[in-house]
Amino acid sequence: MTVLDSALDTGGPDYAAARAAMLDKLAALDTEHAKALAGGGEKYVARHRERGKLLARERIELLVDPDTPFLELSPLAAWGSDYAVGASLITGIGVVEGVECLITANDPTVRGGASNPWTLKKALRANEIAFANRLPVVSLVESGGADLPSQKEIFIPGGALFRDLTRLSAAGIPTIAVVFGNSTAGGAYVPGMSDHAVMIKERSKVFLGGPPLVKMATGEESDDESLGGAEMHARTSGLADHYAVDEADALRQARRIVARLNHRKALPDPVALAEPPKYDEDELLGIVPGDLKTPFDPREVIARVVDGSDFDEFKPLYGPSLVTGWATLHGYPVGVLANAQGVLFGPESQKAAQFIQLANQRDIPLVFLHNTTGYMVGKEYEQGGIIKHGAMMINAVSNSKVPHLSVLMGASYGAGHYGMCGRAYDPRFLFAWPSAKSAVMGPQQLAGVLSIVARASAVAKGQPYDEEADAGLRALVEAQIESESLPMFLSGRLYDDGVIDPRDTRTVLGLCLSAIHTAPVEGARGGFGVFRM
Ligand code: COA
Repeated sequence: MTVLDSALDTGGPDYAAARAAMLDKLAALDTEHAKALAGGGEKYVARHRERGKLLARERIELLVDPDTPFLELSPLAAWGSDYAVGASLITGIGVVEGVECLITANDPTVRGGASNPWTLKKALRANEIAFANRLPVVSLVESGGADLPSQKEIFIPGGALFRDLTRLSAAGIPTIAVVFGNSTAGGAYVPGMSDHAVMIKERSKVFLGGPPLVKMATGEESDDESLGGAEMHARTSGLADHYAVDEADALRQARRIVARLNHRKALPDPVALAEPPKYDEDELLGIVPGDLKTPFDPREVIARVVDGSDFDEFKPLYGPSLVTGWATLHGYPVGVLANAQGVLFGPESQKAAQFIQLANQRDIPLVFLHNTTGYMVGKEYEQGGIIKHGAMMINAVSNSKVPHLSVLMGASYGAGHYGMCGRAYDPRFLFAWPSAKSAVMGPQQLAGVLSIVARASAVAKGQPYDEEADAGLRALVEAQIESESLPMFLSGRLYDDGVIDPRDTRTVLGLCLSAIHTAPVEGARGGFGVFRM
């Protein structure tokens, strides 16, 4: 066995300070998550209940198997925007009749469940996850369609939602729509493009145009039921495959549909129950220092995440600022790449490129644990070829075909974010800890660079430089970049799949790995770009 030792001093002041800082950040995160849970607020929730309807989360709860976890994705979508936190849509992975499904549910208590630009991004991300991992999609529909004031942001790109449903179907990935209420105009194409549609007596309203629009267009008098009720669609149009008498019946029928899908995972679940880490997961709270400039050993994290804390390190003496090695996580084999001292040098980059190729040869998913300030700059390093070495690592990450999971623990700056499989490099899932920060560079560095450029420009024009204004501007820029680097801001923009409690890392990665193994895991046996040597 190659069980990692721990040097974490859980009785020391550094641990206590790091833990206190993390708990503060988690409390702030809880406050924001509570906003997503509150949906449209008391008034709209009460009105919804008075109508005898279940809340979106209650619908999900009745859909999934009892006592199984629901891995909610992007709960902070729209954070920091003018729209409600959560973006009037819930998305996540849940188990229905033993099958892992991608579940989406409109929240009709938030502006009638209408889709704003963030709702669209969140829904498209959910489709991407379903596609990459071959997860059946269950859509729990009740929406006012496009958020009309922001239609210019969503009408044209929003067509991708319906395109995705039929592409999923074409790829053999089942799609199921359960309509709880309004599903008009474009929304009608959700049941329209899904493989299976369930509608509910006197609840579902599925039409291209409602009675007022029909009256305007053709002069015809009509009503909701005859235009798009469940009874009509089940008996006359044939759009409804299943007629449910109420919401609970609809969810029961949806479960029966999933039970009959004959959807099989490409890879079996691991046989043995995985051994938990040797060290307490609670200690993950006290590893990342409050000040990210202080380095920490990522082996302390690995030791609290992988099975039995058992880790076979690859090239431990070479490129020591990046830790690479093999482990299992909830029984699934993984290769881990974790930043140690923050900066990536040439040897670290080459080691990463080799390691990524090895994982591809062996069909082993990769986990990237971020805490990097980027690739090393300076004359010595430029002359040593840091660009071509960094390019090697980015080439390997870009063309790797095994699933990637990224966790931003601390810093994730500059091209280091790219080399460690940042969002643009399509990791299957990407989560951030509340301690993470991500930007083109650190706020102080960025403000300093701007100041040097401004000073040089003034000198070139022969103008005096206003030192007082410079100090003010630096402070302003620093504060702006700092706020834009924080996880809630980035999560609001859908740059991750959620901000998680560090203690949940093993569970979250385990759920992701299980979902990932629904699709085949096949590495690239070649097909990398030209590696500059
Ligand atoms: N865009 C923007 N805001 C919308 C909206 C939309 N598509 N649909 C509803 N809202 C707003 C309402 O203005 C209302 O705001 P307020 O409470 O501040 O006045 C809030 O969301 C709740 O809507 P309300 O109509 O009271 O809820 P409801 O549950 O009784 O009815 C709908 C919900 C969706 C049936 C109804 O709002 C509706 O028909 N909306 C328009 C649907 C449509 O034609 N969409 C265009 C499709 S492309």
